[in-house]
Amino acid sequence: MTANTYLRINDRNHLVIGGCDTTMLAAEYGTPLYVMDERVIRENMRMYRDAMTRHYGRDGLVLYASKAFCTTAICRIAQQEGLGLDVVSGGELYTALQAGFPMGNVYFHGNNKSPEELILALQSGVGRIVVDNLHELAMLDKLAAELGKNINISVRVKPGVDAHTHDFIQTGKIDSKFGVALENGEAFAFAAKTLEMPRITLTGLHCHIGSQIFDLEPFEVTADIMIRFAAELKDKLGIVIRELNLGGGFGIKYTEDDDPVEYDQYIASVSTVVNRVCQEKGLERPFMLMEPGRSIVAPAGITLYRVGTVKDIRGVRKYVAIDGGMFDNPRYALYESKFTFLLANRMEAPHTDCVTVAGKCCESGDLLGKDVMMAEAKPGDLMAVLTTGAYNYSMSSNYNRNTRPAVILVRDGKHRVIVRRETYQDIIRNDLLPDDLQP
Ligand code: LLP
Repeated sequence: MTANTYLRINDRNHLVIGGCDTTMLAAEYGTPLYVMDERVIRENMRMYRDAMTRHYGRDGLVLYASKAFCTTAICRIAQQEGLGLDVVSGGELYTALQAGFPMGNVYFHGNNKSPEELILALQSGVGRIVVDNLHELAMLDKLAAELGKNINISVRVKPGVDAHTHDFIQTGKIDSKFGVALENGEAFAFAAKTLEMPRITLTGLHCHIGSQIFDLEPFEVTADIMIRFAAELKDKLGIVIRELNLGGGFGIKYTEDDDPVEYDQYIASVSTVVNRVCQEKGLERPFMLMEPGRSIVAPAGITLYRVGTVKDIRGVRKYVAIDGGMFDNPRYALYESKFTFLLANRMEAPHTDCVTVAGKCCESGDLLGKDVMMAEAKPGDLMAVLTTGAYNYSMSSNYNRNTRPAVILVRDGKHRVIVRRETYQDIIRNDLLPDDLQP
């Protein structure tokens, strides 16, 4: 029934995660509540790390894409499991710094980095800045001179691959705000430009074709295109690409309808392509990076909500309202994402009810799911939404001045807070009430 095989049901018919009864977690910490299973996170990280070594050897590193879920605790876990880190803003970089993450293994992405963010990255010694465009390249060149630093960079390339996913999370095609395109010569011109900059050395190529992708083929095609581009840079410009970062984006199972391939298959497939094309082109194999986010943390997380109002509009629709909504999970509102909904306190109840799960925000589109099958919910029930470990907490907001939920990390019956619940004081902490406000 569940999309997450590590979840259990105890003899009281309660949902159990990481050895913890969810009704007990809700009673202790309140709702809404994000709960993350530490073992699942660590197992997923190890699986990727081992797959890289198995299929590509030691010349590779898996980065955890922290945008999926970024806190100091997850940075520490990624470090302990031997992963590097993909950060995409000064805030994510700062989080990694505060967690004591080794900066050499941090890769800094972003399509519009500010000068302040670049300075923070350079001064903290991030491993690689993945430069998005010529404007950023010029800024970096200037900063390199000012700070007296020589900088190795990667460039974000749009390989022109259609990744068969939601338009909003597709990034590899020419009509994307990210990177420089191959097909119109932008990427080549970018590489040529770096040759005019004595302090800048282009050593890496990066791409990311999109997210929640189920096919291997787009990744294989991308790897092929990127290696051929590396060969072209060597032949025509004498630039040696030592590092290839193929991004993340591997699809996961949100509901029974999703059918992902084994994750190590992605690494196996691209490794085969990289090895083959490098041999064909007489290139040295580059150091390879991949940067999954969702597939590491999404399956490890669930969100617990208390059911409030149930509104059965005869012949129209039945709304089940919960005490969270788009402020803690905007993914249905943004992408019409699908989730699995359970009654965590009555796991024995049959899934016979077709309902629409509504949040508490002042907005009709604030739904978590439309026409979903679940057990008949009553006020006071505890609802669990599965697979919410990625892009939920990290995309949460204070819309309607709702407070963000706490995040609890569970493992073998132990539970601890890794992000505390916001309070009303947090909500107004940056508000200023000037004392000279006059009508
Ligand atoms: N690398 C880069 C450069 C990325 O832009 C992303 C995701 C990743 C890696 C990690 O991709 P993943 O393995 O997590 O699919 N908010 C959307 C997803 C946006 C993905 C943004 N970039 C959602 O909730 O579905």
